[in-house]
Amino acid sequence: MSLSGQVVVVAGATGVVASGATRKFLDAGATVVGVSRSRDKLAELAKTLKISPSESFIPVAGDFDSETSAEATRAAVVSTLGGKAIDHVLSAVGFIATGGAPTATPLAVLKKSLDDGLYNTFLVAKSFLPLVKDRAGASYTLVSGGLAHFPPPSPTLWMATLKNAAVNALTFGLASETAESAVRVNTICIHFSVAPVGGAKNQLGFPADKDTLSLGSAFLGVAKGSAKGQVICLNSWDAAARLS
Ligand SMILES: NC(=O)c1ccc[n+]([C@@H]2O[C@H](COP(=O)([O-])OP(=O)(O)OC[C@H]3O[C@@H](n4cnc5c(N)ncnc54)[C@H](OP(=O)(O)O)[C@@H]3O)[C@@H](O)[C@H]2O)c1
Repeated sequence: MSLSGQVVVVAGATGVVASGATRKFLDAGATVVGVSRSRDKLAELAKTLKISPSESFIPVAGDFDSETSAEATRAAVVSTLGGKAIDHVLSAVGFIATGGAPTATPLAVLKKSLDDGLYNTFLVAKSFLPLVKDRAGASYTLVSGGLAHFPPPSPTLWMATLKNAAVNALTFGLASETAESAVRVNTICIHFSVAPVGGAKNQLGFPADKDTLSLGSAFLGVAKGSAKGQVICLNSWDAAARLS
């Protein structure tokens, strides 16, 4: 599946999930603009993914913690592309927060968990969805997790349920906004643990059968596929492979 000549912006490129997707977008011949808050982490990512000089990887430092920083990040990406259009966006900023049970959680802790998992995701959409909205063949893909759908196995994970359900709901809002537009907005909702490159556990220490490199092709599949306005639940690694 080729993305030769196409431009993919990956927000949160240094993250566990996005790093595998970044590798697969590069393998497909795309120019990948990887956005992270940290230039050092972007340099480390290039080493981890063994990105060669012949591959087109453009690291951009940027934040999505406010409308001002998100606008500056969008401007930096647009500037570095020098007028070249963006074809696909993967938004994978933030992870889930753990804490006490709901009634034992200070409001400030809940607000921070949403800053770090929902509002940054919202700001990526505000910044980049308008840039691909009318682009033929364009895709805009978000990421969430299966905890969205049921009571969490531990009350310490309830903020993850809230964040993931909210990202799925955001998908439907964005899909409604772009129903008549060219872009296809979808979310990949992952129902299993994903390990970093070469790892066997995710960030919370939950065992993962495979690492992110085995998931990356699913993002390629959605970018090149026909799904539009969907929350695509991946219940297993096999389901991820079928999406490839
Ligand atoms: N890992 C799993 O096992 C798993 C399983 C199911 C679902 N998911 C879902 O997948 C999504 C991504 O998770 P992940 O595991 O990849 O998380 P992650 O490893 O923490 O990656 C998220 C990335 O987002 C970036 N980020 C965070 N806040 C940001 C901000 N304000 N501005 C710019 N960048 C920001 C961080 O990059 P910098 O620090 O470099 O800026 C970080 O590398 C989440 O929705 C998560 O719920 C993950």
